[in-house]
Amino acid sequence: MTDPDRTAPARVLVLNGPNLNRLGTREPDVYGTGTLDDLRTELAGAAPEGVALELRQTNDEAELIGWLHEAVDTGSAVILNPAAFTHYSYALRDAAALVTKAGLTLIEVHLSNPHSREEFRHTSVISGVATGVIAGFGFGSYRLALARITGAL
Ligand code: DQA
Repeated sequence: MTDPDRTAPARVLVLNGPNLNRLGTREPDVYGTGTLDDLRTELAGAAPEGVALELRQTNDEAELIGWLHEAVDTGSAVILNPAAFTHYSYALRDAAALVTKAGLTLIEVHLSNPHSREEFRHTSVISGVATGVIAGFGFGSYRLALARITGAL
């Protein structure tokens, strides 16, 4: 187990990769009709008092890597939906490894279940360095990750 610290962190970064800014209209049959703002509101409502939760999205790999470096520097736990970067970004994997090697929790999440989709989605280069992986439950994947990080699970 690589999840030794079970005390709730003060800061949780919820980081989202490419095309997730289009949630709501992007393939609603796969991703649902909720927007990223809806997700932000839902998670803010679920976060225990004293936990500063920040949800961000970028289409830029370098920016996402920078945010993982920031998580290390600020001791933040991370909920990461790497989106398509999941399947091929070794640079993102290395940055995610910095987080977990620092003893911080990083949970990889997906709205859909990539394993039930196209073959190229069956590979995650991130999972091997993540604390855990939750996929297939829509916004519930994030809710479960947050519950784990804040000690409710
Ligand atoms: C996704 C799954 C990825 O395969 C895809 O590229 C995404 C979203 C998900 O949340 O289900 O953009 O990460």
